[in-house]
Amino acid sequence: MANDSFYKDVSISELAEIAVLVGLEKHCDIANIKKYFLDSKVVLELGAGYGRVIDAIISLENIEKIVAIEKHKQYIESIKNRFQNNPKLKIIHGDFLTTDLEAKFDLILWMWSGVNDFSNQERFRVIHKLSDLLNDNGRIIIDAVPENILDAVPENILSELYGENKGENKGENKQDEFITLTYHQKSIRIYPVNKEMMQSYFVESNLLLEDVIHYQTATNRERFCYVGIKKGIS
Ligand SMILES: C[S@@+](CC[C@H](N)C(=O)[O-])C[C@H]1O[C@@H](n2cnc3c(N)ncnc32)[C@H](O)[C@@H]1O
Repeated sequence: MANDSFYKDVSISELAEIAVLVGLEKHCDIANIKKYFLDSKVVLELGAGYGRVIDAIISLENIEKIVAIEKHKQYIESIKNRFQNNPKLKIIHGDFLTTDLEAKFDLILWMWSGVNDFSNQERFRVIHKLSDLLNDNGRIIIDAVPENILDAVPENILSELYGENKGENKGENKQDEFITLTYHQKSIRIYPVNKEMMQSYFVESNLLLEDVIHYQTATNRERFCYVGIKKGIS
């Protein structure tokens, strides 16, 4: 995956600092999707980072089990230390593209624009795999930045977080384009996504686009949560 080297090099304190800058530190994303936790007992979180989402949901009473998968060692060690005695939480050190999770889930959370790490082509495959992990009527919630990534970023934050960004675009056709952002000399690719693209991944994966939640973060950045629901084949 294109951004492996970024996540491998970004420390826990750096990732936490980025969360503050993008305005997600205090879980405004989770506040916007609260109602979907009410009928979800078994939850999968993809790419758990330093445990920001786990912090927000671990105490919710109706959630009986959280499986959190994370690929990079520094984050895994931190999550294990912080949550090691919590019987609700299963932490898996692995890649969600290749790990056999041997379970079905009521809710899959893919937050903080994890989907923007993947190209248009890759997303068809990833979301299909994720759909197979859902129970009937289970949901997947995918957070993403708006299609016009830089337009949605306030200037003061742009200079701090994206200081050296030149808004580079590459790709054979529009759907392969990405933008490279730089933070402390570490670069990350952001592949834009929009509602139509998300709809096409969902259709291919037996998911219905149930809701699109447009929200603003604590630092006034715009984001979207796409909610998909799995429909059983009858
Ligand atoms: C932007 S962070 C989001 C962290 C957390 N989900 C949150 O919302 O605070 C993305 C995380 O996904 C992890 N990640 C990316 N690709 C992954 C993969 N294929 N398997 C497991 N973890 C992955 C990265 O290491 C990083 O910790």
